[in-house]
Amino acid sequence: MLEGLGMTLPIIQAPMAGVSTPALAAAVSNAGGLGSIGIGASDAAGARAMIDETFAQTDRPFNVNVFVHGPAVQDPEREAAWLAALRPAFAEFGAAPPSDLRVIYKSFSDDPEMLSLLVEKKPAVVSFHFGLPPAETIAALKNAGIRLLATATSLAEAEAVEAAGIDAVIAQGIEAGGHRGVFDPLAADDGLGTFALTRLLARKTGIPVIAAGGIMDGAG
Ligand SMILES: Cc1cc2nc3c(=O)[nH]c(=O)nc-3n(C[C@H](O)[C@H](O)[C@H](O)COP(=O)(O)O)c2cc1C
Repeated sequence: MLEGLGMTLPIIQAPMAGVSTPALAAAVSNAGGLGSIGIGASDAAGARAMIDETFAQTDRPFNVNVFVHGPAVQDPEREAAWLAALRPAFAEFGAAPPSDLRVIYKSFSDDPEMLSLLVEKKPAVVSFHFGLPPAETIAALKNAGIRLLATATSLAEAEAVEAAGIDAVIAQGIEAGGHRGVFDPLAADDGLGTFALTRLLARKTGIPVIAAGGIMDGAG
């Protein structure tokens, strides 16, 4: 995989939606690793600008990361209770909570505009977080020559990743910063650490495994 992508360092910079920038991704790719931008919190127009900005700063491959969470299910009663509970916190700042909650992150599973953008721009790599998109979406990205990665926090998720034809799996241990890419937040969670999960996936899957979580320095 490293050779195929022309990488000289076996290091992938974690995508961090809303935090990591095109400049950071380009710097990592220019240094021989794989830089990443996180577009999970962007719409297609915002993502286009980030992708163009990254292409402008590097000729090397980089990764574009999307959120593939399940659809939000509205529960007006529960949401009203949360908003009521938060009212005093808003009041401290002289503000009132919103009247209702809305979905802020669109899932890539349900975003044909974002899929068209990725097929048009053809970044070297696209990675999935929180789940996998439908088979047709995976096929469309692969047909565009894009290599695919997906986060797994358990063996079951990694097996789904491999079965879907994804090129490599990211073993995201419980130590990982930010949100964990669990597929189903209501399912049982073993909370495996990076070392245990990486070894388990390396043994039980036939695709490359990328360790993520708690790796702070060169020694790590
Ligand atoms: C602020 C922040 C935002 C993150 N956003 C994303 C994201 O958009 N997509 C994603 O796949 N992972 C995201 N992650 C998780 C990272 O990709 C990675 O798994 C994690 O940072 C690795 O653990 P470490 O920070 O201990 O090295 C985020 C992590 C942090 C700290």
